[in-house]
Amino acid sequence: MSGVILVLSGPNLDQLGRRDPALYGTATLDEHVARLSAAARSRGYTLRHVQSNFEGELIEAVRDATDCAALIVNAGALTHTSWALADALATFPGPRVEVHLSNPAAREPFRHVTTLAGVVEGSIAGFGALSYDLALEAVGRLLGDGPGAAGS
Ligand code: DQA
Repeated sequence: MSGVILVLSGPNLDQLGRRDPALYGTATLDEHVARLSAAARSRGYTLRHVQSNFEGELIEAVRDATDCAALIVNAGALTHTSWALADALATFPGPRVEVHLSNPAAREPFRHVTTLAGVVEGSIAGFGALSYDLALEAVGRLLGDGPGAAGS
């Protein structure tokens, strides 16, 4: 199956690489996206990436994603606060996979709250860069592509 996958990156993820590398790793967001784009391409998908520090821009990116088959979202701290982004994600018809580099459930109590859990098919957290790779794998499976379907 082919199609466009939207990757949404929320506030402060544009600082990856220099933002608390012990927690989030040393790769920049561009590096994550480049790696994921290549992996998506090899599976026959096209990646579209939108990063914003503004809640409304993320909401509009979800609304504009009418041509997207699926989405992967790391909403940053909006994960813990934004019912508005959750409402927007609820309207997206395809598979939605939430991703986090760190494991919010093992961190401060405010990160244990999630507004997105009810509007995503599932969440992958705590594996650093691998979280994104696993999210792409999950999206592929949810879209009906099995292992070995690469390039088909
Ligand atoms: C994060 C976890 C969030 O709690 C935090 O606010 C972030 C990054 C992650 O990828 O681990 O900005 O989403």
